[in-house]
Amino acid sequence: MTRVLVLQGPNLNLLGTREPEIYGHDTLDAIHERMAERAAELGLEISFFQSNHEGALIDRLHERDFDVVVINAAGYTHTSVALRDALLAVHRPFWEVHLSDPWRRDEFRKVNFLHDIATATIAGHGALGYLEALDQIAAQGGGPA
Ligand code: DQA
Repeated sequence: MTRVLVLQGPNLNLLGTREPEIYGHDTLDAIHERMAERAAELGLEISFFQSNHEGALIDRLHERDFDVVVINAAGYTHTSVALRDALLAVHRPFWEVHLSDPWRRDEFRKVNFLHDIATATIAGHGALGYLEALDQIAAQGGGPA
């Protein structure tokens, strides 16, 4: 069974109350609940990890106990060479998800350290984007690239 790791970056623990006009009203737990349901329907094994700390996200990747990653690196998307390097180092395909569309927002959000090495990027579809990523992973057979 394909093992999917869902990695959530800084401030996403505050979803529900964090700028809901941009990120919606769903809490991270509610999103993860829906993802777990969808994963079960699709026959994917799924685990979740959120951290506000760059090194903790990198350490989690180093565990390599997954086949595919769904990542919303949040603010680290626009700053983190180290997270990019970690994603390359573990040799696992990853889907990049953003609730909003960073390319339609501030100039500094157009800098993206992950986009060119992601299998796919889903941005601006709100919480649905996470479910779309799972659908795409299942459609591709899920396993390592
Ligand atoms: C985000 C977009 C980023 O620019 C921002 O820093 C976030 C969330 C999104 O999901 O839309 O924290 O990744």
